[in-house]
Amino acid sequence: MRSETAPAIRLEDYKPPLYRIDKVALNVELTPNATRVTATLQVKRQPDTAAGASLVLDGDELSLAGIRLNGKTLDETAYTATAERLELLSPPAEPFELTLVTELDPDANTKLMGLYRSSGTYCTQCEAEGFRRITYFLDRPDILAVYTTRLEASKAECPVLLANGNLAEAGDIEGTDRHYAIWHDPHPKPAYLFALVAGDLAEVPDRFMTMSGKDVALNIYVEHGKEGLCDWAMDSLKRSMRWDEEVFGREYDLDVFNIVAVSDFNMGAMENKGLNIFNDKYVLADPETATDQDYANIEAVIAHEYFHNWTGNRITCRDWFQLCLKEGLTVFRDQEFSSDMRSRPAKRIADVRLLKSHQFPEDAGPLAHPVRPRTYHEINNFYTATVYEKGAEVVRMLQTLLGKQAFRKGLDLYFERHDGEATTIEAFLACFEEASSTDLEQFSLWYEQAGTPVVSVETEYDPDRKTFSVSLSQEIPPLAGQKSSKPAVIPLRFGLVGPNGEDMETGPVEGAKVNGDVLVLDKAHQDVVFQNVAAAPVLSLLRGFSAPVRLNQPLHSKDLLFLAAQDRDPFNRWQAVQTLAMQDLVRLAGLVREGADGVPSEDVIGVLASVLDETQLDEALRAQALTLPSEADIAQEIGKDVNPDAIHAAREILRRAVATRLGPSLLPFISGNSAGGSYSPDAQAAGKRALANRCLHYYAASGADDAADLVWSRFTSADNMTDRLAALTLLVHDHMPREDEALAAYRKRHTDSSLAMDKWFMTQAMAPGDQTLERVKALMSDPSYDAGNPNRVRSLLQSFATGNPTQFARADGAGFELVAESVLEIDKRNPQVASRLLTSFRSWRALDPQRSALAESALLRVSACENLSRDSRDIVDRTLQ
Ligand code: BES
Ligand code: ZN
Repeated sequence: MRSETAPAIRLEDYKPPLYRIDKVALNVELTPNATRVTATLQVKRQPDTAAGASLVLDGDELSLAGIRLNGKTLDETAYTATAERLELLSPPAEPFELTLVTELDPDANTKLMGLYRSSGTYCTQCEAEGFRRITYFLDRPDILAVYTTRLEASKAECPVLLANGNLAEAGDIEGTDRHYAIWHDPHPKPAYLFALVAGDLAEVPDRFMTMSGKDVALNIYVEHGKEGLCDWAMDSLKRSMRWDEEVFGREYDLDVFNIVAVSDFNMGAMENKGLNIFNDKYVLADPETATDQDYANIEAVIAHEYFHNWTGNRITCRDWFQLCLKEGLTVFRDQEFSSDMRSRPAKRIADVRLLKSHQFPEDAGPLAHPVRPRTYHEINNFYTATVYEKGAEVVRMLQTLLGKQAFRKGLDLYFERHDGEATTIEAFLACFEEASSTDLEQFSLWYEQAGTPVVSVETEYDPDRKTFSVSLSQEIPPLAGQKSSKPAVIPLRFGLVGPNGEDMETGPVEGAKVNGDVLVLDKAHQDVVFQNVAAAPVLSLLRGFSAPVRLNQPLHSKDLLFLAAQDRDPFNRWQAVQTLAMQDLVRLAGLVREGADGVPSEDVIGVLASVLDETQLDEALRAQALTLPSEADIAQEIGKDVNPDAIHAAREILRRAVATRLGPSLLPFISGNSAGGSYSPDAQAAGKRALANRCLHYYAASGADDAADLVWSRFTSADNMTDRLAALTLLVHDHMPREDEALAAYRKRHTDSSLAMDKWFMTQAMAPGDQTLERVKALMSDPSYDAGNPNRVRSLLQSFATGNPTQFARADGAGFELVAESVLEIDKRNPQVASRLLTSFRSWRALDPQRSALAESALLRVSACENLSRDSRDIVDRTLQ
């Protein structure tokens, strides 16, 4: 392993490749420990390249077993080869064929990049730079080639042989126990989209007729015995395909679309052309083992990977700095899909919660970077909330600013103009500029500047002149490595809410561009005046979270209470409740910290308690409104000198106060929203369960005599995972009397389902209380735990580090130590999983001095390790910077 810091790769250094590879023929002879890969590459010198310029191919832990040029074995003086690099010293000036033989050991591949085995199945993961672990190649996304893949394996071990594209040929190899299949993908693609799968898998088939009448075979491949868990994934796939036709005019382009579910996978899922490979947690579901959240995630991830077929595959990225070109846009598309399938406001609230809890802290800490980074050491570390979630917000702002119609026109132009290309953010924006005749130069700053802008607002109503003045300013707080920032283009959706709760009509507006209900802030300061405003309004700003900014709008609590009850925008209604709760939680945490008794505000208790009666809001929205800001959100709001114990205590105080206020009135919501009849994962049924379980969460804290019994009986009588897990979580997190009994019963019931056992690990890892640390340590040697499986690591250690603020940041430093030690251990086998776990330290400087000193020493211990992977070295260096 490399111990030195990898050199920085810079966007400004981008150069087109010296050679092209137009065609790739792969012959993969699969065996567990000595797989032979013969790659035949059709190589062409680029017009600007001097004849004879050497050809340098990427490799990673490769060993070369053969090399031929135009069919003739090359003399050793004609090339140099190391594990990381193959250089052909003076290639022919004319197009030539280069044949490379490499030998791989899939069983020994614990990094889960390149070719590896998961429960016996051969599979690949090539994004971002995994193809170079299979053969030497120009492993960069601007090399687009047509691939033909021949697979050969034991018939008994691998009855199923899959690769990208359409099946061209298959058959037995005479006189052996082996067979082969040849797949051809006619669409030129970058190497990161290459995939193959071989194994003994069950096939779940279906069909889809595209809008132009093309019949597509759909298949989901899973372990035998799991065929019955694929219905939801298949249904989601068909709905995604239809939706992309109807909403974006995008049709599928091969005869077959295959999805394979594997149990060892570093990420969620991968969009390989025609052969998506999924972490099985985003495929398999039944009511017994999957929660409503799991169903929603499966729907979203299936859609996301499918949508990449156009945004990512047909049009790909020129280089990895452009990652948001495919990921931000595709997240935007999957968000829109889920909004159409479900409740739009509930989906928006869920997405914004995620953005604020993950992306905002990233953007405010040592790992902050622009949506399009300008430099990286390890690209794997840039699959971040900023590239994905903020990247999606930037696309959403584009839609808000241009309007839906012009946005669609711009996207159509992008598809038409860049189909078959590897392109850039500039080219993407140019399509929208042209389609809408809008200058997007200033807008493009969203891709360049790190940090979350703070928008500050002051308002004044003049009853004599009937004017409403809004003074707006924006600023990005200073960040390490970013000296100054320029004003961004910030679309602010707004309403002036009149005394009766209706949005008021106004006269002309001065001082800002206003389109309908969108006001554009594009200067550091702007004074905006609304004319003919009949009465003093309350300004409802940033409706629907129209821009990824922090709003600093000092609303009086009576105005917040008014918006919480009246705002016509469901998002801002939810936001008003959250803001009221947040203000009180910050105040309470301060009191607790001083050792004082914290008493929650009556107004806040009242507004939360009244949510239940807002029957015009659907159940999902009421459940969301009743969910208090998370401990991490409160920590972020406090911002410095954070004491997680005080935050936890404050949140419990408010929860108990609301619970006590609501008391028995919660009961009908619990029983009334329970599943009657058969389980359905649809949004409405899920919303009812969410509200019932939210009410149960309060009832458990209400002090009622029968609370513990009710939770227990919900646990034992639940006929679906959503309700069972909600009850189990209460039993364990509230340390109720039958906690251990519940854990044992759950384990007994679900011991055969590793995905269900992940929830068991997670529930325990996230339990407050100082016994959790020892429990997590003990669980690391549980027979159901496997430190080599990324899902297990995420459910136990990642959820401890990111979902249990009081125990990860224990005052004695033992939580930090456990995570740091685990990072060092995991890093030896799987750097990607280790470096992700390491990012849980990113907000360490915001902790109180004692805790931050302990976090720093844990980080220094990681940093002191001499043979840290490049992935973890990059994260630890930046986190300590
Ligand atoms: N292209 C990514 C998968 C990926 C990420 C491969 C990082 C290699 C490195 C895929 O499209 C993706 O974004 N997957 C997400 C889930 C998605 C719904 C946001 C993931 O894996 O987390
Ligand atoms: Zn993606």
